[in-house]
Amino acid sequence: MPVVPMKEILDRALADRYGVAAFNVVNDLSTEAVLAAATEEQAPVILQTSVKTVQMYGRSRLFAIVDAMMRTAGIPVTLHLDHCPDRAVITDCLAGGWNSVLFDAHELDVAENLRQTTEVVAEARRAGAHVEGEIEGIQGVEDDLGSDEAPAIQDLEVAIDFIKNSGVDCFAPAIGNSHGQYRRTPSLDARRVSDLVAATGVPMALHGGTGLSDEQFTDLIARGCAKVNISTALKESFMMSGLEHLRTAAERGKWDPPALFRHQRAAVLEMARRHIRLFGGSGRAW
Ligand code: 13P
Repeated sequence: MPVVPMKEILDRALADRYGVAAFNVVNDLSTEAVLAAATEEQAPVILQTSVKTVQMYGRSRLFAIVDAMMRTAGIPVTLHLDHCPDRAVITDCLAGGWNSVLFDAHELDVAENLRQTTEVVAEARRAGAHVEGEIEGIQGVEDDLGSDEAPAIQDLEVAIDFIKNSGVDCFAPAIGNSHGQYRRTPSLDARRVSDLVAATGVPMALHGGTGLSDEQFTDLIARGCAKVNISTALKESFMMSGLEHLRTAAERGKWDPPALFRHQRAAVLEMARRHIRLFGGSGRAW
């Protein structure tokens, strides 16, 4: 059961209250390592790409690399475009094989966001794909997008109306979470997750996963955060393991690229496995 629709992955996770880890992969090595962890754990997994990664590779080349690995993975996997405010990039990725997109129109007023998100949902449906929506920014700059300012929070009713009327398959609420490492333990509005799920039945996406405590993850997943985004932890494990290996290589004067790649793969795989287990995803593949 390799590539499956995002909605199927999330609806199953919401029903059984486990979290599916959504890792922001950055290249072939990190994609392969995440898939290897999910395969070892027999867990469904979401690969997501930032707009920056799409633009760095070029859409068709990135898809060819990721798709080849997804098709042979043997676990349920789906490819999602993370925060994208640009309709042209959304259209391009939907045409190019992404199974799901986050149309991030939080900078528009809610009425215009709703109008455009409804159009994106219709476009995605024609491509057999799904849509995550958001109306409040997630604090923190990631891959050149976002802001360090705390977002303005909309009334709960506004968020509920947006979810119901736009037809999104998943929603990213701002609950005090932020992208990047937390400087202090965040105080999260977990109740907002339960309220949104109770009112809409739609799974929530937990952004800013890196640095939350085990208890925070467990509580939010139990409340309906079926998609749990991890980006910074992947970048750190990839970069720090590389740095560690390169320091040793310099000391020894021994420069062997495959040894570097093995070291980075092991670090990313371990990071992915830890999160998959913590979110209750192990053994959930079908
Ligand atoms: P972190 O970088 O905090 O893991 O957040 C990831 C994320 O939410 C991607 O959209």
